[in-house]
Amino acid sequence: MSSALVKAEGLVKRFRAGGLGRAHWSTAVDGVSLSIRTGETLALVGESGSGKSTVARLLIRLLDPDAGRVLFDGKDLAQLSGHALTEARRGFQMVFQDPLLSLNPRRTIGENMRRPLEIAGIRGGEAADRVEALLRDVGLDADKAVRFPGEISGGQCQRVAIARALALSPRFLVLDEPVSALDVSVQAQILNLLLDLQESRQLAYLFVTHDLKLVRLMAQETAVMSRGRIVESGPAEAVLSQPTHPYTRRLLRGVLRIDAPPDWDALAAGMHDPDSTIPTTN
Ligand SMILES: Nc1ncnc2c1ncn2[C@@H]1O[C@H](COP(=O)(O)OP(=O)(O)OP(=O)(O)O)[C@@H](O)[C@H]1O
Ligand SMILES: [Mg+2]
Repeated sequence: MSSALVKAEGLVKRFRAGGLGRAHWSTAVDGVSLSIRTGETLALVGESGSGKSTVARLLIRLLDPDAGRVLFDGKDLAQLSGHALTEARRGFQMVFQDPLLSLNPRRTIGENMRRPLEIAGIRGGEAADRVEALLRDVGLDADKAVRFPGEISGGQCQRVAIARALALSPRFLVLDEPVSALDVSVQAQILNLLLDLQESRQLAYLFVTHDLKLVRLMAQETAVMSRGRIVESGPAEAVLSQPTHPYTRRLLRGVLRIDAPPDWDALAAGMHDPDSTIPTTN
């Protein structure tokens, strides 16, 4: 049993809300602790506004917490600065819901992918080779490098965003609703790709989703959020089959469901890859 790669302890984040003169503080994340092991996935579920994306941003230090801390590989990120922080940051990346928004539309796919490499001092032929290898790893032809984001499909765009996130060989990826902007038939392909990459690279994932069906498919562990707190957590199978918290039960019954669950027959029909390893739900 490996120890935690990512560990959050008592995270709190408040935001200023309200207009001029009537501003007040609201607590988006209220004492969240969690941990994710190497090669494993924690699914973070909960209704809209419950604080999932805020937790995601805190974990990779896009936001600073008002209280609590994040340990990455045992190191407190808040204690790091300069070179050590830059190094640590390479260890984690984020993939967003809308791939088009995460890529620069005026730059080619190749240019978009070279950005993180350039920042790390990798240029010229070496960068070109890396881009080609990364595109291959996410199932795209090398000639896609000269295309612009607007010239490829949404699913291909998300593959590029994943490839770019992998450019500096991270160990942890935050996946914030990574397939909810995609066609249902494409969703299964991207989820499969994420599962394959996780296995081959031993990646840890935080998988943020509204969709409880995807939890079973993607995650070993799950945490259910409501109003900034984790109300229930544990092995995904146990939480889904025997929820103890009333909020989770309601979520499971669909009372609080935001998105309709995917139609698994349609998903299966949309998968043309005969070697596909996507498990079925039963
Ligand atoms: N930068 C910000 N400034 C002010 N309030 C914010 C900010 N970011 C998030 N919030 C508030 O914090 C709360 C939690 O938001 P968050 O985006 O984390 O929810 P979420 O669970 O990801 O929701 P969704 O499922 O809709 O993506 C919400 O009330 C939101 O309005
Ligand atoms: Mg969100």
